[in-house]
Amino acid sequence: MPQALPKSIDETAALLANADYVAERSLATAVFLALRMKKPLFLEGEAGVGKTEIAKVLSATLGRKLVRLQCYEGLDIASAVYEWNYPRQMIEIRLAEAEGVKSREGLEEDIFTEKFLIRRPILQALEGDLAGAPVLLIDELDRTDEPFEAYLLEVLADFQVTIPEIGTVRADEPPIVVITSNRTREIHDAVKRRCLYHWVDYPNAQRELEILRRKAPGASERLSQEVVGFVQRLRKMDLFKLPGVAETIDWSQALVALDTLALDPETINNTLGALLKYQDDIARVQGTEAARILSEVKAEIATT
Ligand SMILES: Nc1ncnc2c1ncn2[C@@H]1O[C@H](COP(=O)(O)OP(=O)(O)OP(=O)(O)O)[C@@H](O)[C@H]1O
Ligand SMILES: [Mg+2]
Repeated sequence: MPQALPKSIDETAALLANADYVAERSLATAVFLALRMKKPLFLEGEAGVGKTEIAKVLSATLGRKLVRLQCYEGLDIASAVYEWNYPRQMIEIRLAEAEGVKSREGLEEDIFTEKFLIRRPILQALEGDLAGAPVLLIDELDRTDEPFEAYLLEVLADFQVTIPEIGTVRADEPPIVVITSNRTREIHDAVKRRCLYHWVDYPNAQRELEILRRKAPGASERLSQEVVGFVQRLRKMDLFKLPGVAETIDWSQALVALDTLALDPETINNTLGALLKYQDDIARVQGTEAARILSEVKAEIATT
């Protein structure tokens, strides 16, 4: 069932929390405003900080269909918006020939109708859904090339696309658009201008602990505190790839699977692969560095 849109920032934060998404105030504000002003929400941030999850959570809690457009290099209109079902059109032409249909115009009109149209995510999102305007997730926009971005700009400006053979498809109600980027390149200003922008940062310790309570409930409070303290310290190091929230959750779940009640240096060394994904980073942290960080974490927890 479609849900009413939240009426305040508090309601927005509660909505996200209902789906176990722990948002900081500034993110809840951006989400609230995007929904209220019917503007696309542009989320940028490091890997695994919960950008994609926002769209999933909005779709689930608002009861809207989630339409996902995963971006990649070479993504084109045929994969993103629509394309004609060429094989079916060919069959239709053959059948018409077999039946001795002569009129070319009639045949052309027949094969360029909705029946032969393959709807890709953007068209699906514009056509709407019984449950209300869908959530359109345009994921990892930085992976596409600039021509596609320019095209997207037109779609975002009017929420309509024109199919020459059929006409213009316009959204009755604009979809709830969430765009994410890992910032492997800068997205054009013109796209950003049409959106509300929010940089999704790593959570602070308190928020990350709250995320673990919800996403890795099997871990003891003490273990969760140690995990968060350890990860937060790693993020201050000059590593090639810092652990995201996804890695914190993974590591906790790995530790729970090993029946760990509290961290010790050996367990850390053996499970670092859940947290760090580059051998250079692992080599730097493993051993004495991990032991040093752990003693700092334990000392800090003991004093609070
Ligand atoms: N604030 C949060 N509250 C609850 N769970 C979170 C939060 N942030 C991240 N997560 C969890 O972390 C995992 C990764 O999130 P998500 O896939 O949205 O990251 P992302 O920013 O899209 O990463 P990438 O750039 O790699 O695609 C998910 O399982 C998500 O549930
Ligand atoms: Mg993502």
